[in-house]
Amino acid sequence: MTFIYKAEPTRGKIWADLFAQKAPDIDFRVWPNIGDPKKVRFLTVWEPPENISEQFPNLEILFSIGAGVDQINFETLPKHLPVVRMIEPGLTQSMCEYVLWAVLSIHRDMPTYHRQQDRKVWKALRVWPANKRRVGVMGLGRLGQVVLNQLRLMNFRCLGWSRTAKQIEGVPTFHGTDLLGSFLSQCDTLVCLIPLTQSTKGILNRDVFSLMPEGASLVHVGRGEHLEPKDLIEALDSGRLSEAILDVTSPEPLPADDPLWSHPKVIVTPHIASMTQPETAIDTVLENIRRFEQGQPLIGLVDRDRGY
Ligand code: GLV
Repeated sequence: MTFIYKAEPTRGKIWADLFAQKAPDIDFRVWPNIGDPKKVRFLTVWEPPENISEQFPNLEILFSIGAGVDQINFETLPKHLPVVRMIEPGLTQSMCEYVLWAVLSIHRDMPTYHRQQDRKVWKALRVWPANKRRVGVMGLGRLGQVVLNQLRLMNFRCLGWSRTAKQIEGVPTFHGTDLLGSFLSQCDTLVCLIPLTQSTKGILNRDVFSLMPEGASLVHVGRGEHLEPKDLIEALDSGRLSEAILDVTSPEPLPADDPLWSHPKVIVTPHIASMTQPETAIDTVLENIRRFEQGQPLIGLVDRDRGY
């Protein structure tokens, strides 16, 4: 049986070595070297190829190489084909690192100190304890939950919001549109970790910023299309928001003339917050193949109606 990898080629080599060690019976191939398309049972992609059902008539699982599946157009896929998003410890760990870095940077005024350094200004700001800062995480899936646990360990006052009700020990949670306002009003820093769907496109907009406390900050690690950039710039310029750390933009890469690049209160990173680590992800992928063969529920199976 053949497993095709169609994503970043350098990491494809690492995957190939791991498959050779851990699953030598699987014929692992890196796109476009697909061999006999009829033998292809598993395909892992960032962006799927066209005409999947015609090209691969015996495909059994479509894996996303990343945590998100918004880059996949479900309409073009056979209805019965299971689509699986990546849930694996390496990806979760890197997301935790990034969010902790971003929240701590804002909490300890690093953007201000960078701006001061540019002007050779030596000026200390008051150091606040973490438990004076409220950090709200939007999106309480695997990533959101683990991130909140780490933030709690740092002593931040944590809260969470999700589309449907979720319980997290020790963290007040809110859900649905009705409670979004009360959640936002308590977020000194808002971390966006929701999946991109039709209903979350443009969710980070003027209305949301106006419900946050004056001078609050944004850490955006969702998708570029969640954000209305003009509304963000307006909120930063008026002082409604203080800082924004953006790991995702629309489009990507961010064009050279985009005002976000040079805005003094914006830090942009090139979509690197979290990445699948083949060394740990291989076990999840092989476990899913095993589960599929034994008719058991898959880890990270996407609900197509929900969109994630
Ligand atoms: C990255 O953004 C991912 O979806 O894993």
